[in-house]
Amino acid sequence: MKISVIGCGYLGAVHASAMAELGHDVVGIDIDAHKIEQLAAGKPPFYEPGLPEILTSAMASGRLRFSTDIAEAAGAEVHFIGVGTPQKAGSHAADLTYVDAAIQSLLPHLAAGDLVVGKSTVPVGTAARLAAVIEASGSGATLAWNPEFLREGFAVKDTIRPDRLVYGVAPGEAGEQATALLNEVYASAMAAQTPLIVTDYATAELVKVSANAFLATKISFINAMSEIADASGANITELADAIGFDVRIGRKFLNAGVGFGGGCLPKDIRAFTARAEELGRGDSVAFLKEVDAINLRQRQRVVAMTLQALDKPVYTAKVAVLGLSFKPHSDDVRDSPALDVAVQLRGLGADVVATDPQGIENSRLRHPQLTYSTSIEETLRNADAVVLVTEWAEFKQIDPVSAATLVRVPIIIDGRNTLDAAAWRAAGWTYLGLGRP
Ligand code: UDX
Repeated sequence: MKISVIGCGYLGAVHASAMAELGHDVVGIDIDAHKIEQLAAGKPPFYEPGLPEILTSAMASGRLRFSTDIAEAAGAEVHFIGVGTPQKAGSHAADLTYVDAAIQSLLPHLAAGDLVVGKSTVPVGTAARLAAVIEASGSGATLAWNPEFLREGFAVKDTIRPDRLVYGVAPGEAGEQATALLNEVYASAMAAQTPLIVTDYATAELVKVSANAFLATKISFINAMSEIADASGANITELADAIGFDVRIGRKFLNAGVGFGGGCLPKDIRAFTARAEELGRGDSVAFLKEVDAINLRQRQRVVAMTLQALDKPVYTAKVAVLGLSFKPHSDDVRDSPALDVAVQLRGLGADVVATDPQGIENSRLRHPQLTYSTSIEETLRNADAVVLVTEWAEFKQIDPVSAATLVRVPIIIDGRNTLDAAAWRAAGWTYLGLGRP
């Protein structure tokens, strides 16, 4: 099937490559010429495990090409919209500028029977509005909303083998045609018996934001419990293990730490709150403000723990920060708690040296005031305290005995509760976790 993918960021570049890998004939389109140049050269403009491999093989097969020219979308039967919906400046709402611009630029190239498929995360009500815009254009194209649930770091696997598919379609025949086309696009997932929910636009849009709201709530719940654990001497990891054995609760997303970040969870819960307020139902999701507040508090907590642990004023201390990306297997530092902690400590006058296997380049662009090192050894050398804020395997594997010989003072703040506390203490370290005695 001929497919166009508008927007080649974390979502679109992976989607375009994965669709070509599955046998479709795909053109990826983006207004960022540099990004398109890199993709066309077979080099993803960001780190995503498995993407270079499928990008190279799909391009070699001749089924994948990239362009900055939206006219190249003409002739495709299905047009995926995968542009960003960041947080609007000065507001909690989502900025739909890119989605609106993508649709407007696509309109002149649509033909009767084409299906436009929204994948971007949007406030509920957006699809109905866009469907009217497409209908008014008179092209005969229709719209479906097909939210994307991929996790960065596992994006290729999540796209090729999603755990569920959701189609939000128009009522009647148009919706049936849209469903049939999408079933063709996702033929391999269909063959693998992937659960499919065919629904209306509003439900499809809400599925995505409510899934992210639930995940964010789960993380903030365990972080709130970790605050209580700190105040009472309980152990949050054992608590999470114990409640996680209840299948109704489940152990996943119950890791207490410096909190969630990235390009989705933080801005999605804020946009959800803003949209609910517009709908006159702000009280229904008012708890998400608390979820956000608990989450942001974890960053302050890690900073405060560091200040308290230091044996000297912070402005005279060297602090080693292990981690910059918002989670392992990613170079994404958008709303990263790790980078935020590093920046806050620097702001307080600490000499911050930070390292990360993938996140340095993006961090340097945003915060050139920090000192970055690609060497864990260099980062640790003469440190007055070490703060671990992203649980990369490279950091978990650090030998506490040899690390103790590098630092000036062996203090570690484990902002992800990921290290073996007993082993670090046995090597002479003052080990401090979050809700972990
Ligand atoms: C998320 C959703 O998981 C995905 O379905 C959606 O499509 C996009 O948003 P992603 O942003 O890639 O994906 O990251 P995710 O793996 O969900 O992690 C989000 C944040 O939560 C990270 O900062 C992570 O460190 C943090 N987290 C996760 C915790 O603090 N504790 C946990 O137990 C799990």
